[in-house]
Amino acid sequence: MFESLKEQPADKILMLMQAYKEDPRETKIDLGVGVYKDASGNTPIMHSVKAAEKQLWEAEKTKAYTGLAGDPAFADAMVKLVLGDSVPRANVAAAAEPGGTGAVRQAFDLVRSANPEARVFVSNPTWPNHLSILKHMGIEMVPYRYFDDETRGVDFDGMLEDIAQAKKGDVVLLHGCCHNPTGANLNLTQWKEVVAVLLKTGATPMIDIAYQGFGDGLDEDAAATRLVASSVPETLIAASCSKNFGIYRERTGLLMAVSQDASATKLNQGTLNYLNRQNFSFPPDHGARLVTMVLNDDALRADWMAELEAVRNSMLGLREQLASELQRLSGSDRFGFIAQHRGMFSRLGTTPEMVEKLRADHGIYMVGDSRLNIAGLNKTTVPILAKAIIEVGI
Ligand code: LMR
Repeated sequence: MFESLKEQPADKILMLMQAYKEDPRETKIDLGVGVYKDASGNTPIMHSVKAAEKQLWEAEKTKAYTGLAGDPAFADAMVKLVLGDSVPRANVAAAAEPGGTGAVRQAFDLVRSANPEARVFVSNPTWPNHLSILKHMGIEMVPYRYFDDETRGVDFDGMLEDIAQAKKGDVVLLHGCCHNPTGANLNLTQWKEVVAVLLKTGATPMIDIAYQGFGDGLDEDAAATRLVASSVPETLIAASCSKNFGIYRERTGLLMAVSQDASATKLNQGTLNYLNRQNFSFPPDHGARLVTMVLNDDALRADWMAELEAVRNSMLGLREQLASELQRLSGSDRFGFIAQHRGMFSRLGTTPEMVEKLRADHGIYMVGDSRLNIAGLNKTTVPILAKAIIEVGI
């Protein structure tokens, strides 16, 4: 039977990770996969997470199953972190999932259960795994214009025009903040216009929020998600704890189904529980428990917020440094967008050939669509990258 299996296309981001590992050059620079690195190139465990882990090791008395939706305290803490007071807690059904990807996958599964004909509108470009999962699940996708190749900002008119084609029963997938892969984001006034289109079309928004705290701050980065969730009849939200808690391998995420009517929550919650049971039964608990401990303990939370803020500011500093270095070398402002973008990524907006030249000639690894991970840089490597960008002729 297995001989009938087809070769699957390799994931571009993961393939790049492997190629980087195998490159013997000592001067190589990894700007590929979206993992935070400090100035020495390490992905540290955050102090608060380490402290919570120590407490947990001492206090945890059992590894028995939690609930199908995970520990309710995790859902409460994360709903509060993402949604603040924008919607009553009673209007939110929530389930822990294996990472942000798990939450995305379960969200699509819920969409398919609710409407097998649903189309999912996706930004062009979006995180490649969105497309891969949708394709795997046989869900129709409709790209909407997003990135403006000229300005390296958002093609907002194009976006509005395209998402206006969605209908009730369709889903519009949006990045809550720190758009992956472009780094180009909407402002709140623009989000209000998106909400107006969603209300007019009746389509359901699904928000992927994987980088809260990496852009303009924890509350600032959640503002769009809160606006949408409090304005439209129903919203799906896939939140990841991988990046902002630095617990990538623990696979910690939360899927939320928000409605304006608390009476819908029971059915939504039952569906989320059911979907977890069908796919893996109980979600992983370790990372979720650490996040809960950090968010619910004043001292740990303060420490976490301070460290996250330092991470955010270091990325902003690197953005400024890279933009000004490129301005100096190119004698133009054409790279100014790097300082405007937010989050871990920026899309340079160059060709795959140029990206390949950066890899071959300079040992600089970025995704083929010219997405670079700002957090893969440090003060010393910024000038090296800037020089290489100019040398290859971008
Ligand atoms: C990325 O976009 O690089 C990250 O979200 C990691 C991944 O799983 O692709």
